[in-house]
Amino acid sequence: MNGFTHNRLDGKVAIVTGGASGFGESTVRLFVKHGAKVLIADVQDELGLSLCDDLVSTFGDNVTYVHCDITQDSDVRNAVDIAVNKYGKLDIMFNNAGIPGNLDFTILDSNNENFKRVFDVNVFGSFLGAKHAARVMIPARSGVILFTSSVASVLSGESPHSYTVSKHAVVGLMKNLCVELGQYGIRVNCISPGSISTPLLTNAMGLEKAAVDGIVCESAVLKGVVPTAEDVAEAAVYLGSDGSKYVTGVNLVVDGGYSTTNQTYTRVIKQTFETLAKKS
Ligand SMILES: NC(=O)c1ccc[n+]([C@@H]2O[C@H](COP(=O)([O-])OP(=O)(O)OC[C@H]3O[C@@H](n4cnc5c(N)ncnc54)[C@H](O)[C@@H]3O)[C@@H](O)[C@H]2O)c1
Repeated sequence: MNGFTHNRLDGKVAIVTGGASGFGESTVRLFVKHGAKVLIADVQDELGLSLCDDLVSTFGDNVTYVHCDITQDSDVRNAVDIAVNKYGKLDIMFNNAGIPGNLDFTILDSNNENFKRVFDVNVFGSFLGAKHAARVMIPARSGVILFTSSVASVLSGESPHSYTVSKHAVVGLMKNLCVELGQYGIRVNCISPGSISTPLLTNAMGLEKAAVDGIVCESAVLKGVVPTAEDVAEAAVYLGSDGSKYVTGVNLVVDGGYSTTNQTYTRVIKQTFETLAKKS
């Protein structure tokens, strides 16, 4: 890391929900590298503790793991209180944990309980994270609340209804909070990643990482880049740092331009002309 990018979060205290895996894990690693004190909040205790142990050897007491099911008010309250008691304050609350739910792609196949579960984690869990963060950020009159939404918040028809709607809801929550909390100097933003081969995606697709990367790259607008969880972590560092001190109410899409276009029409035209050319 060069001097220009070093320690962009010096002295900041952050909680990362879903911090044991995928985007959360990468963000935890990058946040501590940039000088933050980080609380990893997750339900995967073994993974979270082993990440914590790994980082403690280099960063000492600056990393803590706490079991936190974001759908439980008492767990989220506890995580925020631990951060404040141990590190003195809370500067960044990254509400990142989420689940894909069942891959029910049609309304008639959609399982009702699954729909509620996806909302419980992705929406209610994010709401609780924001609520308990605001509890300590409002008196401090500063802070950053971040959410992980998804490219599904700006692009329809490629994810199950439950997931798509939950991620739209997260953006709605972010915008409403941005308006309410601006008076206290609290910034609120979303990161909306495109498909990236974290355990969430490889498990949901039932494919190896290399196969998922292949599909992502083949369908990408921006060529020559294999997206990684670190790309999301970099966005979180930017939005969590003072470098974005006038940025609030933004849904930052990190998808290599995928959602800017619909290439179906172009592809069908191309195929049509190729077929006509073969016939002539
Ligand atoms: N991977 C993608 O392609 C992609 C794209 C867009 C958005 N997202 C979103 O990114 C976020 C992170 O996902 P990821 O891809 O890193 O997946 P991941 O499965 O690798 O990590 C998600 C983490 O959240 C944790 N978690 C799940 N339910 C929880 C709960 N109730 N309480 C606390 N922690 C819980 C899991 O234990 C896991 O460690 C999610 O909100 C997901 O919807 C992922």
